[in-house]
Amino acid sequence: MSSTLKSLRALADPTRLRIIALLEKDELSVNELQEITRMGQSRISTHLGLLQDARLLQSRRDGKRTFYRLNQEADAVARDFIQLAVRGARETHEHAADELNLKRVLARRNEQAQVYFNQIAGRFDRVYGPGRSWQAFGHLLLRVLPPLVVADLGSGEGLLSELLARRCKKVIAVDNSEKIVAFGAAKAKKNGLKNLEFRLGDLENPPVDVQSVDLVILSQALHHASVPATAILSAFKMLRGGGQIMILDLLQHNFDKARELYGDRWLGFAESDLHRWLEDAGFKKIEVSVVAREEQSPHFQTILAGGVK
Ligand SMILES: C[S@@+](CC[C@H](N)C(=O)[O-])C[C@H]1O[C@@H](n2cnc3c(N)ncnc32)[C@H](O)[C@@H]1O
Repeated sequence: MSSTLKSLRALADPTRLRIIALLEKDELSVNELQEITRMGQSRISTHLGLLQDARLLQSRRDGKRTFYRLNQEADAVARDFIQLAVRGARETHEHAADELNLKRVLARRNEQAQVYFNQIAGRFDRVYGPGRSWQAFGHLLLRVLPPLVVADLGSGEGLLSELLARRCKKVIAVDNSEKIVAFGAAKAKKNGLKNLEFRLGDLENPPVDVQSVDLVILSQALHHASVPATAILSAFKMLRGGGQIMILDLLQHNFDKARELYGDRWLGFAESDLHRWLEDAGFKKIEVSVVAREEQSPHFQTILAGGVK
């Protein structure tokens, strides 16, 4: 049967005109159509099937539900049929009730989302949100980084370096463990990150040229330095004017076992110590703050310290 005949047949029923008129206003599920039109599911489904067969409608699955809407790719003839159907629906005696019921169903749909967000307002940042994570935020923030040259000191195998290398001009990852450097370099190669270079060296005297980088990162690395102030001074030297240092470390704690469990030399740092070392090295615009606290004992807290050369 030609598509014109199919469309004419599909429109030869007032119920189907009503359905088209409703779907012209919004996408609706079978349940919602049932509620609006007060018809049984199988009747609605039959009508929807016919309309879809005539290419006047489209559907999409969303979990267990199927949503219907007018065919967005309908040709000019089909669009004319749809307009006629909408006009015809207005002449049915159910039209006024359909409009009212549609309004109610759509209002409830919006309310459901609002009720949820109203309930959690004030706690939103702390409750679970599907798909929301610091990892995801991290990726988002990395996308807005300018093309910097970065030195990641005490880089480990390059968890952060690899992420940075996807956006930055160059990343130099320095670590004093031969094994870690070999592993990190092999992984960077495997991942095709040609702008990520691993270098073996000490973070107190790193193998990085003076005034050659825009950003120095010390992520959970400074507490391994024998003299942290020396590492910060070295960072200052390797930065270009206007470059920044970013230190992520632990706030001073009493968890002695960190020495034996994680090889830590320092049990975190006081905010004032970091501030002083940054100032003594010559950094300006210094900011030091606690940015995270772990839920589990011993409740390590993360400190973020930064400054500009
Ligand atoms: C806790 S890990 C942090 C790794 C990474 N920055 C991160 O945030 O995931 C500390 C790293 O610093 C390295 N390290 C320890 N002392 C160092 C030193 N004096 N110079 C350079 N790297 C050092 C270790 O080999 C280890 O890979």
